[in-house]
Amino acid sequence: MLPRHVAFIMDGNGRWAKEQGLPRNQGHRAGTNNLKRLIKYARKKEIEMLTFYAFSTENFSRPMSEVSFLFSLISEYFQREIQEMVEEGMRVHFLGDLSLFPSPVRMVLDKTERLTAKGDAIQVNIALGYGSRKEILAAVNSLLKEGVREVDEELFASRLYTAGMPDPDLIIRTSGEMRLSNFLLYQGAYSELYFTDLYWPDFDTEAFEEALTEYGSRSRRYGGIEEK
Ligand code: FPP
Repeated sequence: MLPRHVAFIMDGNGRWAKEQGLPRNQGHRAGTNNLKRLIKYARKKEIEMLTFYAFSTENFSRPMSEVSFLFSLISEYFQREIQEMVEEGMRVHFLGDLSLFPSPVRMVLDKTERLTAKGDAIQVNIALGYGSRKEILAAVNSLLKEGVREVDEELFASRLYTAGMPDPDLIIRTSGEMRLSNFLLYQGAYSELYFTDLYWPDFDTEAFEEALTEYGSRSRRYGGIEEK
């Protein structure tokens, strides 16, 4: 059984670069180049949705030079790839507080969302300026402001960045770290977790295939006793 929605915590770019004797930023560049082959592969497999954790609210505390490099890398990537994304039927959506990004970057992100809005082959979400706790508090505050007195799961989920999307079936984290780091904490309540020691730039389609095979062998019980 294949997952509908796979989410990735792309970790280990810095360590990958260090092992190659390269500056950290080259690790981010290699990590960026890795996205495309994984998206193509998922599309071929008919996976509906991918979500990549590209920049967390906490990442703003990195040295300014690294933060700016990541901003340029991300906006260059979408400028370069947009045509092909449209041709391949990709729908790109950004999850997070984009107001934290400089306006030239935001313009590229807006344009990417606009031009790919009709894509129906695969949806690719990029979490930018994203943090689950902030997302959850923003949802609570928006409901309070509306004067809502009782909330159910459907109403609450409709106030998250992921409104209308299926929860991730599988969350993959690279580089040997075993934590969620403020990523999809609400949405991932029943996600299968997969950890690999590979650094993100080395997480290729073969590694993805292995993760999918492992996912296929898991029995998802959602707190019950039989597989649903
Ligand atoms: C974690 O590795 C990685 C990040 C904080 C950035 C991830 C971003 C990208 C791969 C670029 C995404 C690009 C697009 C176009 C969406 P780390 O730097 O924390 O690695 P380390 O733990 O080894 O230092």
